[in-house]
Amino acid sequence: MGNLVYIATSIDGYIADRNRGLEWLETVPNPQQSDLGFQDLMNRVDALVMGRNTFETVLGFGIEWPYIRPVFVCSKSLKSIPEVLKERVSLIQGSPESIVEELNRKGYRNLYIDGGLTIQAFLRADLIDEMIISTIPVLLGGGIPLFGTLPEIKTFDLISSEVLLGQIVSSRYGRVRVDSL
Ligand SMILES: NC(=O)c1ccc[n+]([C@@H]2O[C@H](COP(=O)([O-])OP(=O)(O)OC[C@H]3O[C@@H](n4cnc5c(N)ncnc54)[C@H](OP(=O)(O)O)[C@@H]3O)[C@@H](O)[C@H]2O)c1
Repeated sequence: MGNLVYIATSIDGYIADRNRGLEWLETVPNPQQSDLGFQDLMNRVDALVMGRNTFETVLGFGIEWPYIRPVFVCSKSLKSIPEVLKERVSLIQGSPESIVEELNRKGYRNLYIDGGLTIQAFLRADLIDEMIISTIPVLLGGGIPLFGTLPEIKTFDLISSEVLLGQIVSSRYGRVRVDSL
């Protein structure tokens, strides 16, 4: 499986609004409180690699820590992790290549990559093998983008696509690399 992205975007490709808000993720009614496959996905990965901004957003939720797998936070500016999370969260930095190499060496082979800038860096390094993108039917008109520019075209296969809660299109893509054709 390798490295995967699992993320919700607006129709216009943003993962947070202009104020870094995420309220628009809740606009689709979810009466059964479905987790939309989040725990199933957690069971498929060995660890998460998360950008510092995403880590700070999750901390700001003030909820119970939501991840059952070890989390590695990419940051050059953060100096420490809150005491209560030290067993579950570590700091990491370096190129995407060196981060993947280090974590693979430690036995974490299937990595969930999270955060806009972090995903973009891993895509530029061609280190994303799978993307599950859930599109919420809203135009945010601006905000934090999921994707940035890339040095070349990257091709993916559509593995599956399903409609969640009657409103959200969740599409799963697998990276097609020329040497695997
Ligand atoms: N819609 C969704 O499903 C979803 C999911 C996740 C996140 N989000 C939202 O997306 C926003 C965060 O995304 P973002 O694009 O701002 O960035 P991000 O990827 O979460 O964080 C970027 C930061 O991560 C650090 N970083 C990234 N790569 C690094 C590397 N190789 N080595 C060292 N540090 C590295 C840097 O921190 P330093 O400056 O500390 O070095 C960088 O400024 C938040 O608002 C969050 O709520 C939405």
